[in-house]
Amino acid sequence: MVKTFQFQDIQVPSPGFGCMGLSHGLGSNLSLEQAEPVLLKAIELGCTFWDTAVVYQAGVNEKLLGDFIRKHNVRDKVFIASKCGVACFDGESGVTNSPAHIKKYIDGTIERLGFTPDLYYLHRIDPKTPLEESIPALDECRKAGKTKYIGLSECSAKTLRKANSIAKIHAIQAEYSAFETLHETDDLIATAAELSISYIAYSPLGHGWLVDNFDYASPDDFAPDDFRRTVPKFQGENFYRNKAIVEEIKKLAKKKGCSTSQIALAWVSGQGMMPIPGTTKVGRLEENWGSRDVELTEEEMAEMRRIVDQAKPEGERYGEAHRAWVGH
Ligand SMILES: NC(=O)c1ccc[n+]([C@@H]2O[C@H](COP(=O)([O-])OP(=O)(O)OC[C@H]3O[C@@H](n4cnc5c(N)ncnc54)[C@H](OP(=O)(O)O)[C@@H]3O)[C@@H](O)[C@H]2O)c1
Repeated sequence: MVKTFQFQDIQVPSPGFGCMGLSHGLGSNLSLEQAEPVLLKAIELGCTFWDTAVVYQAGVNEKLLGDFIRKHNVRDKVFIASKCGVACFDGESGVTNSPAHIKKYIDGTIERLGFTPDLYYLHRIDPKTPLEESIPALDECRKAGKTKYIGLSECSAKTLRKANSIAKIHAIQAEYSAFETLHETDDLIATAAELSISYIAYSPLGHGWLVDNFDYASPDDFAPDDFRRTVPKFQGENFYRNKAIVEEIKKLAKKKGCSTSQIALAWVSGQGMMPIPGTTKVGRLEENWGSRDVELTEEEMAEMRRIVDQAKPEGERYGEAHRAWVGH
């Protein structure tokens, strides 16, 4: 049973909560009143390792969390991670890690949240800015007390190693689920483990795939602004073919007496990672939080491994534009 996650020198409750979908990417953009029930439930449960980013609706997601935390006076209860590295204001867009960007964006984050974040990542790596410039700039923010920890998101193993030789990197945030295991083979997970960098697994439900009640019968059901419309894995024939993976995991969950999302999250935790599933719904938050009570035996882990290895999803995990941003 995994109830806490060792994040560097502190213990944090696991699983965490991915806040992106409250405002961005998956077809919702909730007001404070609409988001309040799920955020209040997270506080009540103790699900308090929250993840946001500047680019999630250009500051809207950070502001939503800041407003909620102010209103309910719960700053001392939450660990907040945010990210810069993708321009989204003043008509600018695209990946940038320039020191000027990092310094400007973290100040904006602090203003919207109303306090300094606990962890600040570079969301994507900009190959045009040398790590010798970007990493010291990020670490200077830490030294100035603007964040406690620093991290990188979706970088290559080589970048992670080099960055960590310039300044201590505390966290890597990258995709990992039973539906997407690419970082098992590109050395990222192994490098993070070797360098004692905490691995925060985003999209641990495969962007909503590894669940009992998938809301979509066809790719046409995604909202017009849902990013899954741009993802080959979720489009055309792949949408239907990749369902087989869920069916296999569903059978195991049924045998275990838990839900599919719970077994999927227990699997991620079992790899020594912190899963940060997202949901806009109170009941699903409770369900996902219940993964804490799911302990997979060695036999069940082996069965999950067999399913995961035999049923790799078909199709790229990002559309062309986003693909160009990862792996640097
Ligand atoms: N660093 C990065 O580049 C990066 C990229 C993507 C995401 N992230 C972070 O990771 C977090 C999670 O990723 P994600 O939202 O892409 O994927 P996810 O957590 O794997 O899946 C979220 C989706 O699953 C649905 N869902 C959640 N629990 C469910 C349940 N028990 N039953 C049925 N459906 C359920 C949600 O819909 P409802 O809202 O309708 O419940 C939502 O559509 C994000 O919030 C963000 O903080 C980071």
